[in-house]
Amino acid sequence: MDTYELIKSRRSPRSYSDKAISAEDLEKMFDAARWAASAYNLQPWRFIYADKEKNPELYNKILGVMVEFNQRWAKAAPILIVTLVNTKNPRTGDALSHARYDLGLAVGNMMIMATSLGISLRNMSGFDANKAREVLNIPENMEAVTIIAAGYRGLPENLPPDMYKMETMPRERLELSEIVFNKVFDKE
Ligand SMILES: Cc1cc2nc3c(=O)[nH]c(=O)nc-3n(C[C@H](O)[C@H](O)[C@H](O)COP(=O)(O)O)c2cc1C
Repeated sequence: MDTYELIKSRRSPRSYSDKAISAEDLEKMFDAARWAASAYNLQPWRFIYADKEKNPELYNKILGVMVEFNQRWAKAAPILIVTLVNTKNPRTGDALSHARYDLGLAVGNMMIMATSLGISLRNMSGFDANKAREVLNIPENMEAVTIIAAGYRGLPENLPPDMYKMETMPRERLELSEIVFNKVFDKE
C-alpha cells in the first residue's frame, strides 16, 4: 500500500478484538513517535501505557479517569496510552508554547506506524485531567493531553447500538478548498 492509501485507510474504531499487541509492535509505535520533529528538538512528549493483561492495575487506573462514554468502549482495547507533554522548557524554565503541537506530530507518526502494522488507535480528550494528575502522580510541569486506545479492530456488531451506528457511519472530511488557501483572509 502506498503512503497516501495507508493514510486514507486509517480509522479510529471503538470496537476492538481480544488480540494482544506484541511488545515488538508496541515498541515500533513508540519509536515512530520518538522520531517526530519538535521545536528546538526538545521532544516534550511523554507516554504512560498499560497492558490490560499484564498490568491490570495501571490499566484500570487509566480507564477510571475517562468519561463514562469512553469507558464503555475503551475497556475492550488491550492497550491504553496516556499522552503527556512537558509544559516547561527544561533548559530555561519558560513555557513551552508548542509542546502540544509537537505531541500531535509524535502521535501522528504513531498512528501511521500502527496502521501499517494493522493496529488501530482512537484518541480521547474525554477524560478528567485533574483525576489523571492525581492517580498517575503527574508532576506539576507536565500535563496529560489525551488517552489513546490501541488494539486490533473488532466487530462493530459487538458495540452497543448507539456506538454501532456511529462506527458504521460514512467518514466525512472538509473539502481541500475549505482548509487550504493561497490568499489572505477576507475582511469581515
Ligand atoms: C484530540 C482528539 C480527541 C478525541 N476525543 C475523543 C473522545 O473523547 N472519544 C471518542 O470516542 N473519540 C474521540 N476522538 C476521535 C475522533 O472523534 C475521530 O478521530 C474523528 O471522528 C475522525 O475519525 P477517524 O479518526 O476514524 O478518521 C478524538 C480524536 C482526537 C484527535
